[in-house]
Amino acid sequence: MATKTLLLVDFGMVFLVLMNVIINVPSSVEARPRAFFVFGDSLVDNGNNNYLFTTARADSPPYGIDFPTRTPTGRFSNGYNIPDFISMRLGAESTLPYLSPEFKGEKLLVGANFASAGVGILNDTGVQFLNITRMYRQLEYFEEYQRRLSALIGISKTKRLVKRALILITVGGNDFVNNYYLVSPSARSRQYRLPQYVKLLIFEYRKILKKLYDMGGRRVIVTGTGPLGCAPAEMAMRSRDGQCSRELQRAASLYNPLLQRMLTNLNNRLRRHVFIAANTALMHNDFISNPTAFGFTTSKVACCGQGPYNGLGVCSPSSNLCPDRSTFVFWDPFHPTERANRIIVERIMSGSTIYMNPMNLSTILELDATT
Ligand SMILES: *[C@@H]1O[C@H](CO)[C@@H](O)[C@H](O)[C@H]1NC(C)=O
Ligand SMILES: *[C@@H]1O[C@H](CO)[C@@H](O)[C@H](O)[C@H]1NC(C)=O
Ligand SMILES: *[C@@H]1O[C@H](CO)[C@@H](O)[C@H](O)[C@H]1NC(C)=O
Repeated sequence: MATKTLLLVDFGMVFLVLMNVIINVPSSVEARPRAFFVFGDSLVDNGNNNYLFTTARADSPPYGIDFPTRTPTGRFSNGYNIPDFISMRLGAESTLPYLSPEFKGEKLLVGANFASAGVGILNDTGVQFLNITRMYRQLEYFEEYQRRLSALIGISKTKRLVKRALILITVGGNDFVNNYYLVSPSARSRQYRLPQYVKLLIFEYRKILKKLYDMGGRRVIVTGTGPLGCAPAEMAMRSRDGQCSRELQRAASLYNPLLQRMLTNLNNRLRRHVFIAANTALMHNDFISNPTAFGFTTSKVACCGQGPYNGLGVCSPSSNLCPDRSTFVFWDPFHPTERANRIIVERIMSGSTIYMNPMNLSTILELDATT
């Protein structure tokens, strides 16, 4: 009896190995780090916009100056961004931009990055950037991705890979800075007062997250907005006497708690901890209230830019450039430096429940390893 079972198992193994050789998937899906999918805006885009007709891009120097290749990649950072550091924590290579021509074959097993700089929750956010991949399109690409992966490893393995995956979604900031507050008065600000606008965003965001769940997402880290009014761009345009812009800080302080509540409600309805709220505003506020505790010399001035706080225009080859990027919180007028990103991911990994609710990433990884 025993030998018979053993034989069957062996036979199964041989069959599996043969299948893998035949369909050209070099190592087994199960043995790999879990897959990682990224959705959202420039805070997490790692190069998709390089392939689009848009002005929202980070493909010229000095972007990428501290990246291993010392060249721009499309990441809005001097080096690695938040998804890169999360990939490292998963023990995986960085995901490729979905639109990259290199994204094919075995690379599909790593996951994918669908994010596109300039997008918001709303379809009308970022129209000034022309051709960007809006959230609904990113979700369509996720569907397309699953079809492509199914063709490679089959439908049931694809479903399992997606369900086991970690997902990161970062969007919402642009709905304020590149929509509601872009011009004064904007179409949206004539249509809605701020509290009503925030409610609209949460209502629309919920639909997007529900769709992600329906497509198989089971562990989704959802970041709030940072302290929008303290970004060098907003400091340059709106700050009086060096204080963060009150109006944009008010927007963030209305939005973030409502987002957290919506995620809790969604989890309660689904009866599982699918959505994990990452309190990025608080993570960032730590830098702002006490930069030197983290080894930063300033949290207000961008490393790369021009004008007050280096906050005007874009970071380009002719901008001011700080010599030591590790002492700045902001790399350009809107985006953190590699070092700030690294610290943010440390909080995502092991922060207490005020940072990560209901649990941090190391807890998620532990839990999922045993189920
Ligand atoms: C945004 O666009 C998508 C498809 O392009 C559509 O399904 C969705 O309803 C739109 N959202 C709003 C609020 O108009
Ligand atoms: C935008 O980019 C996509 C993907 O590259 C392309 O299919 C589409 O035709 C472009 N649209 C415009 C208006 O340029
Ligand atoms: C988060 O992670 C750390 C380190 O892995 C762990 O010790 C801690 O208990 C976790 N905190 C919470 C509140 O889950």
